[in-house]
Amino acid sequence: MAIIIKKQADIKPSEITPQSVYLDRRRFMQQSLVTGALLATDALLPAWAKRWPQLPASQFNTDETLNSFEDITTYNNFYEFGTSKSDPHRQAKDFDPRPWTITVEGECDKPGTFDLEDIIKQASVQEYIYRLRCVEGWSMVIPWVGFSLADMLKRFSPNSRAKYVEFTTLLDKSRMPGQKRRVLRWPYVEGLRIDEAMNALPIMAVGLYGELLPNQNGAPIRLVVPWKYGFKSIKSIVKIRFMETQPATTWNLSAPKEYGFYSNVNPNVDHPRWSQKKERRIGEAFWKPKHATKIYNGYGEQVAHLYAGMNLKKYF
Ligand code: MTE
Repeated sequence: MAIIIKKQADIKPSEITPQSVYLDRRRFMQQSLVTGALLATDALLPAWAKRWPQLPASQFNTDETLNSFEDITTYNNFYEFGTSKSDPHRQAKDFDPRPWTITVEGECDKPGTFDLEDIIKQASVQEYIYRLRCVEGWSMVIPWVGFSLADMLKRFSPNSRAKYVEFTTLLDKSRMPGQKRRVLRWPYVEGLRIDEAMNALPIMAVGLYGELLPNQNGAPIRLVVPWKYGFKSIKSIVKIRFMETQPATTWNLSAPKEYGFYSNVNPNVDHPRWSQKKERRIGEAFWKPKHATKIYNGYGEQVAHLYAGMNLKKYF
């Protein structure tokens, strides 16, 4: 099926769903879900050209107040497009993320290079409203459009030697100008233990607020791991590798004492430069009290068992 996909820059402001319309649509969708009206992913695709249609809601959604589209798309960390929070939404404007392929390699029976559209066609796309907690001490609540990472990985048939999964961002200085500066080792790499990756929470996000994923948020596809600090949620992924040994990750290589491999949100383990006990919700007034940070970012019920018996101060 041929899909015409508009570039972000081609989408007129009038075509962008205002937040209020989006919220109404979501309320409607939640009501229709009660009556059991689920959408098949295939039926979603033609409309994907502009925006995602109403989607089923994930069972893990938080009902906290959403951050605005503006907050989510103008306050970003994406060093490939500059190191200040306001850089990515300006510097990623002309990034054209399509067509896009993901290469899957390593310890699996079905490696290959796959077109993103084919990956999405096989996926069960939903809306996932997750808290994102950054190690710098701020957080947001974001309505992602995405699908289960575990469901996708299973289709590549990882073998018994696959103990970890490594993710890699596109390396292309001409399209990602921030890569001309050696602020990090490029390309950006992240990783998960296989049981973390196979947990029901992590998603591959392909949109937010019902729109295609904005460039500054990691277009066209990024990882979201809601119980870990934001830097684990790697953007613009082009490669996935199943590995027997723990992958070397970008932030861990750049400052091993500050950024561990696990990076689980944990108010009891401080970062050397920042306490992790509290967080500021972006969009809230500065004079408002900060929120208490919860262990595993509040997702302990789903993930605490993954770390039973582990010393979380050592494996931070
Ligand atoms: N992925 C890549 N490729 N490059 C980056 O600089 N920054 C990380 C993560 N993923 C980053 C990345 C950090 S530090 C955070 S907090 C989140 O993206 C921010 O995601 P957001 O901009 O969508 O809020």
